[in-house]
Amino acid sequence: MKKILIATEKPFAREAMFHIEGVVNDTPGYELERLERYKTKQELIEAVKQTDALIVRSDQIDEQVINASNNLKVIVRAGAGIDNIDLHAASKKKIVVMNTPGQNSNAVAELAIGLMLGLIRHKYNGTPGTELRWKKIAMHGFGNIGKRMAEIAKGFDMKVYAFDPFIGSKYIKSKGVNPCDSVEELYKKGDFISINIPATPETRESINYDLLSATKPNAFLVNTARKDLIEEEGLIKIIEERPEFMYAADVAPAKRAFIEENFPMQTLFTTNKMGAQTAEANINAGVAAVRQIISYIEEGDNKYQVNKEEVGSKIL
Ligand code: 3PG
Repeated sequence: MKKILIATEKPFAREAMFHIEGVVNDTPGYELERLERYKTKQELIEAVKQTDALIVRSDQIDEQVINASNNLKVIVRAGAGIDNIDLHAASKKKIVVMNTPGQNSNAVAELAIGLMLGLIRHKYNGTPGTELRWKKIAMHGFGNIGKRMAEIAKGFDMKVYAFDPFIGSKYIKSKGVNPCDSVEELYKKGDFISINIPATPETRESINYDLLSATKPNAFLVNTARKDLIEEEGLIKIIEERPEFMYAADVAPAKRAFIEENFPMQTLFTTNKMGAQTAEANINAGVAAVRQIISYIEEGDNKYQVNKEEVGSKIL
């Protein structure tokens, strides 16, 4: 029996588990194990020791966890961002790492728009707010989430701009979106700016005071990506200097308590990174993850492998 471990500090929705279990139960030779809401890294270390495949969300899969595994062949991040997995450590052990791109992008896009609405309506406190219609929205990153947000934003009659160094302007234009030539141009353009880029050594803290200073009066920044993309001291300085600047995030800053206490009507943060927390997103990402594992182990299908260069496309 091949063992698939789902290790999630933040568990999938009940409906998603039902579908995931269904796929595993219908596949002879596989069994599922669950480690949910675990409190210590040691619990995770114990659980990975005898598993063949691992499904995680934002769980920290570092070198110690990877090295504790004895049979692990494949790790799937049920989601997009793989910054929580030590790719180097996995590659050293010839463990294939995959993600499930696009599976939770609608959920994240809807949340980003929801955060914008919540804050421009002053957290629904009864005072007059503003509207999205005819405003400019700038997509910092035009991957699955940026594209989905653009579609939704157009429904609000917003004018959409995008900058993505990995995606050509021709493609951006083909989606009815106005391409920008640089990140600086993008930040100058938007009434709303949405961060939809991954956290990498190049992007961490790249959204700094200088870039934020270039934004228009009444600019609104929404971050459903990762907190360390923003240079936090620079962000706090902007919020302090500009009482009209608004910041909403699904990935709360380290100084959340200070910011919320001092700037309650300029900022809005979710409870616990909940962009992908919908039944639909959990079903999409969870089922994709388990299917990708089975296809990889049975057929060597490594379409979504993110460490191909390091590990190669070995058929098991
Ligand atoms: C992702 O990278 O897919 C999102 O950030 C979702 O993260 P989560 O699975 O921890 O909710």
